[in-house]
Amino acid sequence: MHRRLFIVTSTIVSFLVISSFAQLPQFEQPIKPDASLSLLAIGDWGRKGTFNQSLVAKQMGRIGEELGIDFVISVGDNFYDAGLIDVYDKSFEESFTNIYTAKSLQKQWYAVLGNHDYRGNAVAQLDPILRDIDKRWLCLRSFMVNTDIAQFFFIDTTPFVKKYWKHPKKNHYDWRGVAPRKKYISKVLKDLEIALSESTSIWKVVVGHHTIRSVSEHGDTDELVDMLLPMLEASNFGVDLYMNGHDHCLEHISSDDSPIQFLTTGGGSKAWRGIFNPNKVDTLRLFYDGQGFISLQLTKTDAKVVYYDVDGNVIHTWSRTKDCCHPYI
Ligand SMILES: *[C@@H]1O[C@H](CO)[C@@H](O)[C@H](O)[C@H]1NC(C)=O
Repeated sequence: MHRRLFIVTSTIVSFLVISSFAQLPQFEQPIKPDASLSLLAIGDWGRKGTFNQSLVAKQMGRIGEELGIDFVISVGDNFYDAGLIDVYDKSFEESFTNIYTAKSLQKQWYAVLGNHDYRGNAVAQLDPILRDIDKRWLCLRSFMVNTDIAQFFFIDTTPFVKKYWKHPKKNHYDWRGVAPRKKYISKVLKDLEIALSESTSIWKVVVGHHTIRSVSEHGDTDELVDMLLPMLEASNFGVDLYMNGHDHCLEHISSDDSPIQFLTTGGGSKAWRGIFNPNKVDTLRLFYDGQGFISLQLTKTDAKVVYYDVDGNVIHTWSRTKDCCHPYI
């Protein structure tokens, strides 16, 4: 396979990016001197502050301060209803810059695209010009963020979903740089497989917009269950967490035969869909139908995930300890 040096020119010099082996662009994210890191993750948010987006943002600011977060992850559907029109679309400032104003949130944001982003000008969200407007913004299709104790694998999941490709006259999706679907998906999967196989990181977190496991409106995403999940569950890869949005709620699901935790953090703005479809296979640890967000705190040995509602109340926590020699304890 063709390997190339991938250099992303960026106004943010702190992460100059070189991909030596894997094909995915990689970013180096510094963490704290004690080798711990913390972050917030949020999805399905950009509504110019409405539907409680501003309230959630305020609580993110408060919790972000408490935890001294290192960065923020956006799991997609960044701008409603149909992404950005172009790089000068005021929605970028109205839904991002002017909303997440807290001091603690002035950190790097790493974002993937959601299906609503593809309904507009998806390429605009990837454009470095946006970083001149707000230097926090970094959105790519699929990429990696490396830290001393964890690696984050961001995957562009929208192209996987077949129904978005149907009726192109009726539904606009910006498939520039993506089509044809099959070729694109197989490259994404191949790149991820190489990246996971080369990873020696203690913690591995995969981030995508679409659900793999969900008990709400959208349920499981069949294409991801078929094509992505087997790779995430491969014992030699040892993926710890899969984080997504798409369903506008908070969820924590895991199953007895897999070490992966499925975390839905799609509560960035419009929520309360009132749809709950539990299945029998998985263990549902949290389903919260309203707005909110999650935090992730990692050290070499410990992972802790906390779920917060729109008022910043803790509604669920999960933690795991592992030592160097026994991946799952
Ligand atoms: C916003 O949050 C408040 C609770 O703080 C809740 O009463 C209200 O219904 C929410 N609004 C929407 C649109 O979800």
